Amino acid sequence: MKEKLCWHGSAQLAPVPVVLAGCGDGSVRNPYNLITIGWCGMVCSEPPMLGIGVRPERFSFGLIRRTGEFTVNLPPKALAETVDYCGVVSGKAIDKFKERQLTPLPGSQVKAPIVAECPIALECRVNRTLELGSHWYFIADILAVRVDPELVDEKGKLDMERADLISYAHGHYYEQGPCLGHFGYSVRKKN
Ligand SMILES: Cc1cc2nc3c(=O)[nH]c(=O)nc-3n(C[C@H](O)[C@H](O)[C@H](O)COP(=O)(O)O)c2cc1C
Repeated sequence: MKEKLCWHGSAQLAPVPVVLAGCGDGSVRNPYNLITIGWCGMVCSEPPMLGIGVRPERFSFGLIRRTGEFTVNLPPKALAETVDYCGVVSGKAIDKFKERQLTPLPGSQVKAPIVAECPIALECRVNRTLELGSHWYFIADILAVRVDPELVDEKGKLDMERADLISYAHGHYYEQGPCLGHFGYSVRKKN
C-alpha cells in the first residue's frame, strides 16, 4: 500500500455543489443580489435545513443578516459562466440579475428572489448563525422547494439528470456524469 502525502488541514472537501444564493428583498436598502457559494450543504433532513458559509465582507452578507432570508438556486451547465461571474463581481455597484440577463421571481415564503433560469430553487430562512472565522455559517430552514415541471417524470419523481447541474472542485467547475446507481442498489435483490 502506498503511503499518502500529509498536508495541513485546509478546505479540500470536493466536489461540492456550487449555487447562486439570492438575497435582498427588493427594497432600496436591501436590493436583490446574487452571490456564488461553494460552501453550501444540507445539515438536517427533519426539519429540512441547509447551511451556507459567507464572508462578512461580502455585500450579500449584510443583505442576509438584515433580512434573515436567502434562496439557494441550483444552476444548470448553461449558467456556469454566470456562476463564475456572480462569484467575482460584487453587487455593491452592479445589478447582477440585469448584467447576466437573469429573471428574479418572487419566493412563495421569502422575500429573497429565486432565479427563473435555475431549474431548482430552495427558499430559506435563517434559523441560527455560527461565527466561525473567515466565514459565518447561516443555518437555515428550507421553507419551500421550487422545481421546473419539466424535471418531474411520468411517475411524479424528480429526475435530477434533466436538471443538468454543475459542481465545483479545487477551483474548477464540472458537469455531472452519468448515474452510477440508486440509494440501496448495492444490497437490492437481483432478479
Ligand atoms: C466558485 C466560487 C465559490 C464561492 N464560494 C463562496 C462562499 O462559499 N462564500 C463566500 O463568502 N464567498 C464565496 N465566493 C466569493 C463570492 O461569490 C464573491 O466574493 C462575490 O463577488 C460576492 O458578491 P457580493 O459582494 O455581491 O455579495 C465564491 C466565489 C466563487 C467563484
